[in-house]
Amino acid sequence: MNFLLLGAGGREHALAWKLIQSSLCTQLFIAPGNAGTEQCGTNVSLSLSDFDGIKDFCTAQSVNMIIVGPEEPLVNGIADFFEGTSISVIGPSQLGAQLEGSKAFAKQFMQRHNIPTANYREFNATNYQEGVAYLQNHSLPIVIKADGLAAGKGVVICQYAGEAFAEFELMIQQSKFGDASKTVVVEEFLDGMELSVFVLTDGKDYVLLPYAKDYKRIGERDTGPNTGGMGAVSPLPFADEDFMKKVEQTIIKPTIRGLQQENINYKGFIFFGLIKVGSEPFVIEYNCRMGDPETEVVMPRLKNDLAELFIATAQERLHEVKIEEDPRTVCTIMAVSAGYPGSYEKEKLIEGLEEAADNDCIVFHAGTKSADEGVITNGGRVLCVTAYGNNVREAIRKARSVLDKISYEGMYYRKDIGYEFV
Ligand code: AMP
Ligand code: GLY
Repeated sequence: MNFLLLGAGGREHALAWKLIQSSLCTQLFIAPGNAGTEQCGTNVSLSLSDFDGIKDFCTAQSVNMIIVGPEEPLVNGIADFFEGTSISVIGPSQLGAQLEGSKAFAKQFMQRHNIPTANYREFNATNYQEGVAYLQNHSLPIVIKADGLAAGKGVVICQYAGEAFAEFELMIQQSKFGDASKTVVVEEFLDGMELSVFVLTDGKDYVLLPYAKDYKRIGERDTGPNTGGMGAVSPLPFADEDFMKKVEQTIIKPTIRGLQQENINYKGFIFFGLIKVGSEPFVIEYNCRMGDPETEVVMPRLKNDLAELFIATAQERLHEVKIEEDPRTVCTIMAVSAGYPGSYEKEKLIEGLEEAADNDCIVFHAGTKSADEGVITNGGRVLCVTAYGNNVREAIRKARSVLDKISYEGMYYRKDIGYEFV
């Protein structure tokens, strides 16, 4: 089969790395890809918003299946666009993608299906004053979320009332995130360990993939601004069998059932952003795609053939599949550009990539591209080094020894990924 994978990050390099291990994968195209995906298949320059262009490419190259990495094409309806054609899409319909595309939609969905989540209210310009009164009477901290997609920046945890009023006004009255913050969700703050849980669903059944923990803040010990993710670990001691059973019973199964009951077409990944409060799981967010950098630890722990999983998804045969996981611990550490998540420079030459190769380590590329002089930086998150170990300490030590061999101007990475578990 011929596959087209959409996206350009570490997630896509990890998916590509896994996909080409399958004998079912004849040809792999990645659009637009990076210098890492280039080693797995053919990078092609296609705009992810030009569905007609993607279709023409698929027809010309006999692509059978499109795997969608990031959320935007899904929220824009790429799965609906290809519905009824001979090309399958792994990714939900536009309506299904609203689980990520609209926080208000996701909260209402969870309420309808009794899925545990933080208490909340929804506000916009028409009930703005009611919102101000609600904030006044609410305990702190309080969480204010832009309804729509805001490049991962739309969630603000406010410690002080003044901050909450200011943020509320900025989002609704000053359009801080444009149309995405016309509506906001105001919700109670939940305190606990966060966990990313992933399933692949064919709309009827699902398979549970390895779960992971992601480290979102730029600074060590989880300080400083939020990023796309600075590292990840899988598995974790705090997510034991009992807890994961609760996650399946109270969250995953009701979600899949809810999608079916509401006739929402969904063939793809669901990413449950969870928080463990006491011993109970709550949903913080849904995403309609895999996580990044979680994919860079999930794919290395997945023993199944990924192409086979995708085909079973497209053919609604996931009930036949049994997931097998590598029992080892896998960690990944993200190296970023100086200044990230603020402004940063690009096109710095990356040295030491060849020497870095190692049996127990994989260097996944994120913001990189090939140039005449070699591989150069092309984004805030540049590359992530994934390593296997018998425990977190061992995996992290290996990843760091590989990172020590790599360098570029302004390279920064967190040295404390997995710190709670060593
Ligand atoms: P989201 O974009 O919804 O994942 O939110 C980004 C981050 O904000 C999450 O990963 C959490 O760390 C934090 N967050 C979101 N909602 C809550 C909440 N209700 N309570 C505590 N932290 C939250
Ligand atoms: N690592 C979190 C995300 O992909 O949204």
